[in-house]
Amino acid sequence: MCGIVGFAGKEEAAPILLDGLERLEYRGYDSAGVAVLSEKQGLQMKKAKGRLKVLRALTDDGRSLSGHVGIGHTRWATHGEPNDVNSHPHLSQNGMIAVVHNGIIENYLEIKEFLISKGVSFRSDTDTEVVAQLLEYYYASSGDLKSAVYKMLHRIEGAYALGILCVDYPDCFIAARKDAPLLLGYGEGCSFIASDVTAILKYTREVSYMADGEVAVVSASGIRVFDAMGLEIEKERHTVDWDVSAAEKGGYAHFMYKEILEQPEAIRKTISPRLKDGHVFFEDLKLTAEEIRSLNRIFIVACGSSYHVGVIGKYNLERLLRRPVEVVLASEFRYADPLVDEHTLVIVISQSGETLDSMMALRLAKKLGARVLSIVNVVGSSIARESDDVLYTWAGPEIAVATTKAYSTQLTVLNMLGLYFAETLGTIEPAEYAAIVSELQALPARMESVLENTEPIQYLASRYFNHDSVFFIGRNLDYALGLEGSLKLKEISYIHSEAYASGELKHGTISLIEPGTLVIALGTYTPLFDKAMSNVIEVKARGADIVALTTESRCADMAKTAENVLAVPDTHLLLQPSLGIVPLQLFAYYVALQRGCDIDKPRNLAKSVTVE
Ligand code: AGP
Repeated sequence: MCGIVGFAGKEEAAPILLDGLERLEYRGYDSAGVAVLSEKQGLQMKKAKGRLKVLRALTDDGRSLSGHVGIGHTRWATHGEPNDVNSHPHLSQNGMIAVVHNGIIENYLEIKEFLISKGVSFRSDTDTEVVAQLLEYYYASSGDLKSAVYKMLHRIEGAYALGILCVDYPDCFIAARKDAPLLLGYGEGCSFIASDVTAILKYTREVSYMADGEVAVVSASGIRVFDAMGLEIEKERHTVDWDVSAAEKGGYAHFMYKEILEQPEAIRKTISPRLKDGHVFFEDLKLTAEEIRSLNRIFIVACGSSYHVGVIGKYNLERLLRRPVEVVLASEFRYADPLVDEHTLVIVISQSGETLDSMMALRLAKKLGARVLSIVNVVGSSIARESDDVLYTWAGPEIAVATTKAYSTQLTVLNMLGLYFAETLGTIEPAEYAAIVSELQALPARMESVLENTEPIQYLASRYFNHDSVFFIGRNLDYALGLEGSLKLKEISYIHSEAYASGELKHGTISLIEPGTLVIALGTYTPLFDKAMSNVIEVKARGADIVALTTESRCADMAKTAENVLAVPDTHLLLQPSLGIVPLQLFAYYVALQRGCDIDKPRNLAKSVTVE
């Protein structure tokens, strides 16, 4: 959830660290800090509660700190409230060691007690400080930093990505990783570490992904990497093909708005390399036709919006494959006793590829013998690396905490996977297959037409932005769509909102509907359009304000009952949510804008949830 960046080179480190942190701020943004080392001035550190701009002001944009080696951190608090003291870096007692950390040290209390018994005093409430203090303790007895680092890593339990500076080593810093993302970057006469590649993309595209247990010594002249046993290893290098401008706002007020607009292009990029002569194919898929035929159950496992993609996937895949498909929240799956064996395919969906619950669910599935296929946006991420198969969503970097283009591309990949499996299993008629493929190809253009007509959505947002409770209702794919529409609204506008399967209204929820309650009624799933209309009539009779969303072909019918109707183009039934989501994303965006919310960085949230 926190962001780490480290630099060793010939230039001044602090401005480069601040630049990197700015690009990582979406990961955590309650406080930030940097520490740099120079032979003359030793270790200098500045950290502050609040957004990065506070740290920028405090350091005169980094100019007040001098040194060519440094580490920086942007924090999302887990242990200890967000304040200056709890911000990273954390220093050891004698001030010789500085540490930045992403993750959670689970046994920190026990280590803290041990160190206190040895006379160490602590300054912060964080779990991270024990890393700095324990390291000082081991370093004092051995005088060898690398072996002290290994001793410290053996003692701590939990998840960590670490950047470590030591005054005695002014030319380098140390990085270590377990269950939290960290990559190494190779520049011209300089080296980097970062939680995520967007932090260093401006300087290099050559990266390696650190694996669990590895330790790196990072200096201007290069990076030496050691495995968990301390043996030096060669890391494979990858070239990142993300465009730097994709990770910048490019004149838009918010990343979220820019990313909503990027969806047609992202879907085009996701579809086009995987369609040939009217058929879906996945170049890198190792899963054979025989293995697909041997599957008797599919699980889709994910969190948040990725889970909502899975809910749509359950409906669509069961319809296409006539096989049982279960969708389970990763945080539930990992502690359940799931019925998984070697004839089970577990599809893990994750934009970041680093979500801890999804990662742990993946490991459990593998342990139980399942085959794991992941749908991931970030190349080389932990989930991608540990999966048997990975299908990338080519959405490019997604910076806004609220996902939009990653959601849409995940949905596209999952639908394509359904088509591919259905053709392999012979569970789809050729004419139906061809119809879906043709609509898939038309999807980006249809989405563009939705994005060209945003005024009605803007108008409705300005009319209803001050409501304090909103219900999304729908059936089947519309219910799944409502889950995501509701999450988008609540996460960025802080309006309480719930999504219900319309059939459940009479089982309790309808008692909450009173004059002026806003109900977003979804009627894009045309086989159940009449039932959607009946539900609109029911809530309208209780005084609800209705915003209905349907398809162009049903717009006139819906307008007979609902006072506000938004419509998206008709497409194949299975693909309809890909269009339906766009007005809901925009509605959430405009409502949050009206309410003056911090759209790209909503309170208490982080982009990549690497803790439980
Ligand atoms: C949605 O807008 C959120 N960013 C969140 O629900 C997100 O989808 C969830 O945390 C899962 O993240 P992942 O796709 O990176 O695993």
